[in-house]
Amino acid sequence: MPVELKSEAELEQMRRAGRINAEVRALLMEAIRPGVTGLQLDELAMSEIERRGAVATFKGYAPGGKPPYSGAICYSVNEQLVHGPPNDRPLMEGDIVSIDLGATYEGWVSDAAFTAPVGDVSQEALDLIRVTREALWCGIEAAQVGNHLGDVSYAIGEHSNGYGIIEEYGGHGVGREMHEQPHIQNMGRRGSGMPLRQGMVLALEPMLAMGHPATEELDDQWTVVMRDGSLAAHWEETIAITDEGPEVLTRID
Ligand code: MF3
Ligand code: CO
Repeated sequence: MPVELKSEAELEQMRRAGRINAEVRALLMEAIRPGVTGLQLDELAMSEIERRGAVATFKGYAPGGKPPYSGAICYSVNEQLVHGPPNDRPLMEGDIVSIDLGATYEGWVSDAAFTAPVGDVSQEALDLIRVTREALWCGIEAAQVGNHLGDVSYAIGEHSNGYGIIEEYGGHGVGREMHEQPHIQNMGRRGSGMPLRQGMVLALEPMLAMGHPATEELDDQWTVVMRDGSLAAHWEETIAITDEGPEVLTRID
């Protein structure tokens, strides 16, 4: 079952976890420039999370016999899609980088990601980044009481038309754990799936590629790359479904 917040107090806890995530992501965005490494960004994320009394959700995460995840952030460059452990390769002008951050505050988990250009990048890379972000917002707008989960997936997939929509990964419930039910595909059928209810907390995360959507995992057992080497982008927000509409808990502005 997805997390269903039982009170305004629980929603307030999730807002705190989300706000910390947003603040730290804003600092990471500002720090992105040619020459910076993933390890430097990870150190920044770690210290800013701890300074706010939160815990880096991803660090030490070890599902299904994988080696424990090394970072506070995921750092995925160009054809890397998601889950890249931070490394010491400096970012170069023209790269695009996806950064995913988990912050747990008093046991409540927030999960959010963005893709950013490093210096000047190609117009097609900028378009990929923009459309992926727009697809996320289409999904968020569809996350209304009375709609079904499939309406969210449909809205994301419709907007992603023309790009490779990754099928092996998707969004998820979030709250007491990083990954809760349900799994949320980034394409779907209108009216299908579970009905959305007040208090549900979801992480929506469209992932799009310039080329074919097939992915593979590198030998480190974490980094997911596009099999055809094409550029990929990833945006994610944690949202709460309320009777007044979706509330984005990890919003930066
Ligand atoms: N947003 C990512 C996901 O839901 C976070 C993964 S964290 C990692 O898959 F630790 F698994 F890398
Ligand atoms: Co996630």
